[in-house]
Amino acid sequence: MPDSKHPRQPFGQYPRVRMRRNRSHDWVRRLVAETKLSPADFIWPVFVKEGGAAQEPVPAMPGVNRLTVPALVKAAEQAAKRGIPAIMIFPYVPKELKTDDAREAYRANNPVSKAIKAVKKAVPEIGVMSDVALDPYISHGQDGLEQDGVILNDETIEVLIRQALTLAESGVDVVAPSDMMDGRIGRIRDALDSAGFQRVKIISYAAKYASNFYGPYREAIGSKSALGKADKRTYQMDPANGDEALRECALDVAEGADMLMVKPGMPYLDVLWRVKQAFRMPTFVYQVSGEYAMLKAAAANGWLDNDKVVLEALACFKRAGADGILTYSALEAAALLAKG
Ligand code: PBG
Repeated sequence: MPDSKHPRQPFGQYPRVRMRRNRSHDWVRRLVAETKLSPADFIWPVFVKEGGAAQEPVPAMPGVNRLTVPALVKAAEQAAKRGIPAIMIFPYVPKELKTDDAREAYRANNPVSKAIKAVKKAVPEIGVMSDVALDPYISHGQDGLEQDGVILNDETIEVLIRQALTLAESGVDVVAPSDMMDGRIGRIRDALDSAGFQRVKIISYAAKYASNFYGPYREAIGSKSALGKADKRTYQMDPANGDEALRECALDVAEGADMLMVKPGMPYLDVLWRVKQAFRMPTFVYQVSGEYAMLKAAAANGWLDNDKVVLEALACFKRAGADGILTYSALEAAALLAKG
């Protein structure tokens, strides 16, 4: 009974309620954790190059290398061993192979095609994805064909279709259109289906922003100097916009996307949350090169604890609604998770 020494305590309030009780020990924190990170959440982007040294570091992405096909196969084996479900293959393309029509993008047996075949043969259990966009292959570094300063939409789609078909013929499991042309998901779906590739999946970079966080990636694929001071704001989204991301996603869902992606990640968590809530689709987020570089640079200076911030950033994507995360830290994070 309440008395003057033990007055009636209000329900639902301190001091009856103490939020800290469920945080007191590691065991209870683990028990009440709402989201859990696992290697099964990761898609690992990797860069393939033709010939030369087995691996070549990407300067602005410490720990990331461009790999020859055999080195990439070894990387895929490591990823599979760590429980990572899929890799995403990007090419490094030397200047001599970049043209105004991006024809290297759909050449049978280009390095991406070789890498897909080699990985599917050696590590059949890992999912293989690859980008559909012209930027690595085109002389000016844009994602589409250009005429008089305009990035052509419909003409670009014709080339993207050829690129998607080359990827499918090489055995890719998932094509990832990252170009942001209007209507490309539907056209690529139809082209894949007509060619007998009904089982090839499409992960759409549906809400992709004209972000300044892609810098280190452009260096990795060798498009940075090609692009120069130009930007991609006539087709990628304005970072100011959120509602528009939902319209982009709605269109791609209607056109047949199997999975959606929001990109970049950390500055766009609100978009990720809204997309997941609105569509309840398999929704992925890309922790892009600039996000990776920021964490690595700060860690290298001793300003952040690398292992802790890597796992925290990835876990927060899950809390914000991601079903999975494209991250250059995939292998590293999987190893950290295994250590516990
Ligand atoms: C190309 C593409 C980009 C990225 C993935 N695919 C860059 C761009 O649009 O310029 C960015 C990846 C990253 O920064 O990690 N369409």
